[in-house]
Amino acid sequence: MATDTIQFEIQKTTQSRIAEVDFSNLVFGRSFSDHMLVSFYEDGQWGSNKIVPYGNLSLSPAIASLHYGQTIFEGMKAYKNSDGEVLLFRPFDNWKRFNLSAKRMCMPEVPEEVFIGGLRELLRLDSAWVPTGEGQSLYIRPYMFAADEYIGVKPSDTYYFIIFTCPVGNYYSKPVKVRVETEYIRAAEGGVGAAKCGGNYGGSLYPAKLAQLDGYDQLIWTDAKEHRFVEESGTMNVMFMIDGKLVTPAVSSSILDGVTRKSIIAVAEYWKIPVEQRKVTVDEVITAAKQGRLEAAFGAGTAAVVSPFSHIAHEGVDYELPELTPESFPVRVKEFLNDLRTGKTEDIFGWTLKV
Ligand code: COI
Repeated sequence: MATDTIQFEIQKTTQSRIAEVDFSNLVFGRSFSDHMLVSFYEDGQWGSNKIVPYGNLSLSPAIASLHYGQTIFEGMKAYKNSDGEVLLFRPFDNWKRFNLSAKRMCMPEVPEEVFIGGLRELLRLDSAWVPTGEGQSLYIRPYMFAADEYIGVKPSDTYYFIIFTCPVGNYYSKPVKVRVETEYIRAAEGGVGAAKCGGNYGGSLYPAKLAQLDGYDQLIWTDAKEHRFVEESGTMNVMFMIDGKLVTPAVSSSILDGVTRKSIIAVAEYWKIPVEQRKVTVDEVITAAKQGRLEAAFGAGTAAVVSPFSHIAHEGVDYELPELTPESFPVRVKEFLNDLRTGKTEDIFGWTLKV
């Protein structure tokens, strides 16, 4: 298989750190598994491919990515089935999106045998780190950054591609309170909103902090021109159940083509729930909330999975969403995806890949 054709030089850790991790209390993004994959691109190819103990890198202070943000990443997850086998969820979708982000940021593509093949090697080595508790998974962070020691503004000639992994629990531990943002923007048409590049997240911190100071967990971003259309929510795509229909902003140059988003759409269609992917106005969401037709609203993302909103604030008014029940769409779809990812239910979509 193409994914297995590169030989990775493997240096195993002499001392696993796994016993230091409290698996009953996993905080998102704070514990890192024993090994990481490190590939280096120079002279037009990914020439050095290694799996080494997780640890610090030694980098020049003049490294281009730290100055101009030529850096992209992905978020993916692995789970264990009841036989203890490790299952990746839709890894080829993340690999393809990674390469689209690379193109937009003027970076080289990462071949399948490095991204998928290398990830499988890494997970074979660190399979003990894949947690199995309720809401837990192994979060996978592939990323690439410009490595030239040069501070002129130009695409780098050298790059690092790295994958490390973290056992994680829930990203949000309770329903999320969001505020519709009508002053700042996340992305503009023709910009880099659809690319998973570091700057998109750096630029979101200040408006998110202002919302947090006012008691909200996250923002709902709106379009850059008029603040009229809903775009995304924080680190997630955003979806609404209105009048029994699943309504979500269509992806565009300012909206990320989320893997969880498209999985939820596929499941909804399989359940014969009408789905509308189109421009969604803030006004229709707020009107539906006022009239009791907004049955649910939630964020969808790899880290956040399906994160229901408890409140949506707009123009100083908090709209409370209905309490969720086991029949609510976000609850059902989250459970369905979880069962599929962990092999509890048949993978009718062919989304899982055994490591
Ligand atoms: C993911 O869902 O994997 C993301 O990229 C969100 C992350 C920034 C926490």
